[in-house]
Amino acid sequence: MNRIMNTQQLGVSDLKVTRIAYGSMPLGGSWDGAPAGVETRENAVKIIRTALDEGINFYDHADIYCRGKSEEVFSGIWQEAPSLREKIFLQSKCGIRPGWDDPSMPTRFDFSYEHIMRSVEGSLKRLKTDYLDVLLLHRPDPLVEPEEVARAFDELHQSGKVRWFGVSNETAAEIEYLSHYLRQPIIANQVEFNVIHTHMLDEGIVFNQNNPRLSRNHGTIEYCRLHNITLQAWGPLARGLLTGRAVDKPAEHISKTSTLVAQMAKEKGVTGEAILIAWIMRHPAKIQAIIGTTNTARISAACQGDGIELSRDEWYKLFVAGRGENMP
Ligand SMILES: NC(=O)c1ccc[n+]([C@@H]2O[C@H](COP(=O)([O-])OP(=O)(O)OC[C@H]3O[C@@H](n4cnc5c(N)ncnc54)[C@H](OP(=O)(O)O)[C@@H]3O)[C@@H](O)[C@H]2O)c1
Repeated sequence: MNRIMNTQQLGVSDLKVTRIAYGSMPLGGSWDGAPAGVETRENAVKIIRTALDEGINFYDHADIYCRGKSEEVFSGIWQEAPSLREKIFLQSKCGIRPGWDDPSMPTRFDFSYEHIMRSVEGSLKRLKTDYLDVLLLHRPDPLVEPEEVARAFDELHQSGKVRWFGVSNETAAEIEYLSHYLRQPIIANQVEFNVIHTHMLDEGIVFNQNNPRLSRNHGTIEYCRLHNITLQAWGPLARGLLTGRAVDKPAEHISKTSTLVAQMAKEKGVTGEAILIAWIMRHPAKIQAIIGTTNTARISAACQGDGIELSRDEWYKLFVAGRGENMP
């Protein structure tokens, strides 16, 4: 690791993680059943090497990413850097069962004891490691039996296979409900968040207004702040929509926001990606950004966002532009 990146504690844990994390979803190359080829494996190692050089010490995974291939190819980094495991943090997720494991079934969610235990074993095997630093439940399962989750978490924790636990895409009420049964704290909640995906913030702003924006996530951001649960932003680069990805007839607010991002980047002498990351980090909740680009230049561009302080006015300019609607 070359560059020194700012760090923060992840929730109430002792993990000192970088403010920008790398999201390994695309590393496996494709979502089909074909095994990962040499080129995909070499490319994955090159991408991880770039992220490490930028100072990133936190790597996000899920059992399902590229049907398990993303975790598998990630393990190629151990050959290059055998002592790396103790210096970085690995997070994976479980709980989504895509239709490909049984073509007669649609994608569904599964927080049963058996599924959680099976999933973690699979992740450990593919990642070629003895433990995960963090395990997240990927998307809320309406059939959750919290006692089963608690039993799985106890066993995983006691066996040393998982150090810390969290959730993803969950509301405050869902976290509070689950936490009631768990003996380990929830330390993270990973949610989609970027300049043009701001439901978490909008809820408080449009409360009691005649406004269709109300997403009813019931104070999730406040709950996470209050309980020291780190919010992790997936999709922080808005998939390139604001930094030059070619799209047919973009909505007016997307074009306006892209122009503003480019202007601010020019003024500050940084990249547009850096502005998007700095916008997320300006929020006092200390949100960790999980970038998922496979383009090594874009990884470096996004990492420039670490250490850039947006002013209150700059933050609001981007927020209002991204909403495509003035404040009430
Ligand atoms: N918890 C969840 O439910 C959930 C859901 C989705 C993702 N995640 C996690 O979050 C990570 C990041 O998510 P994300 O991939 O949505 O985030 P992102 O970093 O906002 O977007 C990355 C994607 O945008 C593309 N992109 C960015 N800038 C571009 C540009 N200027 N031109 C063209 N394409 C551009 C990238 O393509 P290139 O690769 O070509 O740069 C890549 O496909 C994932 O890897 C995963 O770990 C979690």
